[in-house]
Amino acid sequence: IRIQIYDTADEASCTLAREIAELIRARAKAGRSVVLGLATGGTPVRLYRELIRMHREEGLSFANVVTFNLDEYHGLPREHSQSYWRFMHEQLFDHIDIPASAINVPDGMVPRAEVFAWCRAYEQKIKDAGGIDLQVLGIGRTGHIGFNEPGSGADSRTRLVTLDSMTRRDAARDFIGEANVPRHAITMGVGSILDARRIVLLSWGGAKARVVADAAEKPPSEALPASFLQQHGDVTFHVDRASASELT
Ligand code: F6R
Repeated sequence: IRIQIYDTADEASCTLAREIAELIRARAKAGRSVVLGLATGGTPVRLYRELIRMHREEGLSFANVVTFNLDEYHGLPREHSQSYWRFMHEQLFDHIDIPASAINVPDGMVPRAEVFAWCRAYEQKIKDAGGIDLQVLGIGRTGHIGFNEPGSGADSRTRLVTLDSMTRRDAARDFIGEANVPRHAITMGVGSILDARRIVLLSWGGAKARVVADAAEKPPSEALPASFLQQHGDVTFHVDRASASELT
């Protein structure tokens, strides 16, 4: 894992935005598409803001971009104020020229009986698109990436999972009370994430300092799914000083 420490989250986000823009432009020149793996949550908001700015002010086109989001709460329709589908549209997709058909977000309304088949189809769709070129990740205080909570194996695939109580507590404010936070989600697995050609994890703030250090330095284990990133050959952590404070 390469770790890059920045003074501010803005600087880190702009660095990643530039990398993504270069990849998109290089592929566009070659007449090829780019497959991006995207995350929701507070962490990537600045990244998306910068990509929107590049689209508006620098003519960056997303016409050749295909996206796959990591996860979605199970039981939330797209229109729900806290759905990740809606989050992604409000924070990014509505403001750029990505074709609607190139956007993929797990469907939170798949009936239980169909989830298994749906998840296999999501994996197949990623493969058919050529695999993920660059996966953007945040990290949860439980050590989750996507919604792969402790106990998730390195070879786990897209599936229905139960959210950790700490994760539900962290989401309580958005849902106006923990009781309203969904108990389940559909998430790409750790194995699905590790299939990406390149992975960039973002983290800001002191509340993530411990888990960032453990993910980078502890022996990989299911107790901290983000630690499996150590087994991938091309991972960069972009962190601010607060999130870097527990690194040895
Ligand atoms: C979101 C996701 C999660 C978040 C993590 C951090 O799609 O997969 O793993 O990245 O929970 O969330 P924030 O950024 O809100 O601290």
